[in-house]
Amino acid sequence: MGLTEATRVRAREIVARYPKPRSALLPMLHLVQAEEGYVSPAGIALCAEELGLTKAEVGAVTTFYTMYKRRPAGDWLVSVCTNTVCGFLGGDAIFRTLSEQLGVGHDETTADGTITLEHAECLAACDYAPVVTVNYEFYDRQTPDSAHGLVRDLQDGRRPAPTRGAPLCTFAEISRQLAGFADDRDGAVAAGPAGEPTLVGARLAVQRRETAPPYPDGSPGATAAAAGGDGRNAASAAAAARPQPSSHDAPLSTSASDGDEPAAGSGVAKESDTATADQPGSPTGERKED
Ligand code: FES
Repeated sequence: MGLTEATRVRAREIVARYPKPRSALLPMLHLVQAEEGYVSPAGIALCAEELGLTKAEVGAVTTFYTMYKRRPAGDWLVSVCTNTVCGFLGGDAIFRTLSEQLGVGHDETTADGTITLEHAECLAACDYAPVVTVNYEFYDRQTPDSAHGLVRDLQDGRRPAPTRGAPLCTFAEISRQLAGFADDRDGAVAAGPAGEPTLVGARLAVQRRETAPPYPDGSPGATAAAAGGDGRNAASAAAAARPQPSSHDAPLSTSASDGDEPAAGSGVAKESDTATADQPGSPTGERKED
């Protein structure tokens, strides 16, 4: 690998997407990582030249975000969430197990250059804790044993399927995607449905007739909605037109005993009515009107 004239062409393609060149910096840094395996000094220089920034300015951004690596990363970046929820449920034990298995600590790469291990802050998947990601693909509800097996698969040259989302790809491949270039491998962006824990909130929102508030009048979102580009205002208008929930509905209750189940005769959707929360075209979980 390494930076080439083709890298510079791709960098300019990224810059052309933005009204101001410097806005292209973050995806350009991912492009550099795709080519170099990390944000190299040559990559920093390229970004600075193309964007009219100083190398110090590019370096300051690079060191702010943990997704930008300052040393060459392996093909497989294994991130173990050790934040509060995952930590309580075993994230620290998972990290210790993998650290011993690989013989490396935080932000270190195995001697053969294939696997980088890191602690991660909350990976936004607390409902599946404790989680591990490999190149940002999720492996949910891990244990020290299952994580050991996951890493053993990587060491043996296999690509274990993530619990959900797209198939696993290498650090270079995911970095190219993060730079904004489509991955045209077969099935590269295939993804399964959202997991059950993720849908619980949507189902409760449907039961309780909760909807997102409309955009303020005159805002770009309201204009897009009026033009048919966004269903939120229409959904809110439909919700407003319905009878108001009775006092049984306790819209913001979080207790299973005082609001999770619709009250008889309240007109609130039953569980069997909530399938639209899972369906494409119904992102707000809006109840379908029969
Ligand atoms: S604490 Fe681990 S995903 Fe949130």
